[in-house]
Amino acid sequence: MITAKMSLADIVKQYPQTIPYLNNLHLDYCCGGHMPLDESFTDGSIDLTSLINELNNIASQPVPQNKESVESIEDFEKLSVNEMLDNLEATHHVTEREMMEQIEKLLNKILIVHYQHHGAELTKIHNLFARMKAELEEHFAKEERLIFPLMRSNHHPDKETLELISELEGEHVDVGDMIKEMQELTNNFQVPADTCVTYANTFKLMKDFVEDIFVHVFKENSITFPEYAEQ
Ligand SMILES: [Fe+2]
Ligand SMILES: [Fe+2]
Repeated sequence: MITAKMSLADIVKQYPQTIPYLNNLHLDYCCGGHMPLDESFTDGSIDLTSLINELNNIASQPVPQNKESVESIEDFEKLSVNEMLDNLEATHHVTEREMMEQIEKLLNKILIVHYQHHGAELTKIHNLFARMKAELEEHFAKEERLIFPLMRSNHHPDKETLELISELEGEHVDVGDMIKEMQELTNNFQVPADTCVTYANTFKLMKDFVEDIFVHVFKENSITFPEYAEQ
């Protein structure tokens, strides 16, 4: 049962089938997402009662719409910390690196083709994506080469490793902020009417990429890192 005392991260941990609904509402369950609902939405932007009702409704449905990602999170939770780290590297790190290469090329292409009518917004999107890609590549390298190896070898977390993990969490917040900026710039990846198939494909791929990042960061922040710290 979902209540106002739970955070979005708690909700997704217990009911991963709520992810598509939260994505549609652009609610951050991964990079921020750690405050109880009744403390997060104090500005009245969200009707808390209907949000909780709808989440409970989705949580009670027998077959989730996102069956695959639900299973991926449920299976992930059963792994040991070392297996989780291997899994993160073999799945999200690989897929997201490939997606970033493709998006970079596509963005450059639509920037040139649609410069005349959409140059202003595409320049900003192209630039922000380049910064996001650089940050993420450095973040993945830091995880793979420095912090995950330390976590694998120090089964009893020491102060230094825990401090490095909180650096990673800080970087996740930065990525979350860039994603929000990207959602605003692209009007949540809505394709302008006067454009082309490549434009639509680029935005679709960017949306898929962002959703993959959300699951990836959620697994690290809300499953792997707490599990490691408790060892
Ligand atoms: Fe990662
Ligand atoms: Fe990370």
